[in-house]
Amino acid sequence: MFEKIAVVGAGTMGHGIAEVAALNGYVVFLCDISEEILREAIKKIEWSLRKMVEKGKLGNEELTLTLNRIRTTTSLEEAAKDSKLIIEAVPENLELKKGIFSRLDGMTHPETILGTNTSSLPISEIASVTSRPDKVIGIHFFNPPVIMPLVEIVCGDKTSKQTVDSVLTFIKTLGKQFIICRKDVPGFVVNRILEALIQEAAWIVHRGEASMLEVDSAVKYRAKLPMGLFELSDYVGIDVLYSAGKAIQDRDGGVIVSPLFEEYYENGWYGKKSGKGFYTYTGDLWEKPKIPPELADKVNLEEIFAPAVNAAAWLLRNNVVDKEELDKAVILGLNFPEGILQMADKWGIDTLVQVLKIKRSKYGEYYKPDQLLEEMVANNRLGVKTRRGFYEYV
Ligand code: 3HC
Repeated sequence: MFEKIAVVGAGTMGHGIAEVAALNGYVVFLCDISEEILREAIKKIEWSLRKMVEKGKLGNEELTLTLNRIRTTTSLEEAAKDSKLIIEAVPENLELKKGIFSRLDGMTHPETILGTNTSSLPISEIASVTSRPDKVIGIHFFNPPVIMPLVEIVCGDKTSKQTVDSVLTFIKTLGKQFIICRKDVPGFVVNRILEALIQEAAWIVHRGEASMLEVDSAVKYRAKLPMGLFELSDYVGIDVLYSAGKAIQDRDGGVIVSPLFEEYYENGWYGKKSGKGFYTYTGDLWEKPKIPPELADKVNLEEIFAPAVNAAAWLLRNNVVDKEELDKAVILGLNFPEGILQMADKWGIDTLVQVLKIKRSKYGEYYKPDQLLEEMVANNRLGVKTRRGFYEYV
């Protein structure tokens, strides 16, 4: 396949993608604008590999071999030279990404595949500056790439089947699973659902309906997600989620970014990486915020999750993904204990629609229940209680 690949951008995701590829035998050229960023990236990769050695998942020799397969450079030309696959993972700024894709288009072999790890910007918009939109594709990893099993593949309007097939073969060699987002919608599958969920949590706190700890406790100890939503935001980066949310909001209103996120973003309180986000951090990479389990009953899960289920229904109704792949996406991309559609069936579609209707009457059209959910209620597909919802139950 590809002997050498290049990863452009050595931040949170870029360094993790380089690590996964190097662990699986690829020579990786990791490129960023300063030596200092690259040194930091290698430090983080080394830290993560040492963690695996400590846990007995990797030998010392493999650690050395993996590190030796990663070359760093501040020269895009050097990174791109002879790479048949390039994965861009720079910040979520469309103009920045377009600039890089236009340069890569001019300096690489015409057969080189140009992948982007964008979390939400449409692939076709990025591809539009190249002469090879058929070879531009979304290759969306989840944080931390070395642990999370999913890669979301996103086709632009012109991405060719051959490009998809080559990338899928590559993803399999990394030991990852994939879903295919069939339409180039902003936020794709996972971030459309995640943004609806996280922004609703932030709206609830902004409106004074529950505290941050109450929301995180309910999500972690009752819904059994691996992290609270504010904890996850700090982990992924409030800047990343803010930009992804805005990208969706500005294009089709699929989410509305909350004033709470706006405030933290404006203040540079990005989360773990800046020492302060919704929680505060001392700099230990392994640090986790304390979320009291006794607060778990203070807020209804349906209040938090209803907009995310609405986003999921929108994705299904618009044929962006099918229900099995959608549930697989949240299980493998976000480590949910079960699919969001399975959860919705347990809560009851009628209950969720009722929650959305109340929110709509108070806060506006964003909460309008998706037509698919309304039809399910009309057809008595209420979930587990009527034995038919998104799934059938015997
Ligand atoms: N490198 C190496 N090993 C790591 C690691 C890393 N960076 N991070 C975690 N680990 C290992 C730990 O050593 C531990 O190993 P063990 O099972 O052998 O003991 C294991 O992973 C679990 O770690 P912890 O015990 O410290 O902590 P958790 O059980 O809480 O797991 C987590 C950590 C996997 C991050 C889990 O909390 C989780 O799944 N959180 C949700 C993450 C998520 O949703 N990611 C996607 C975000 S959205 C996104 O990225 C898209 C973007 O576009 C916005």
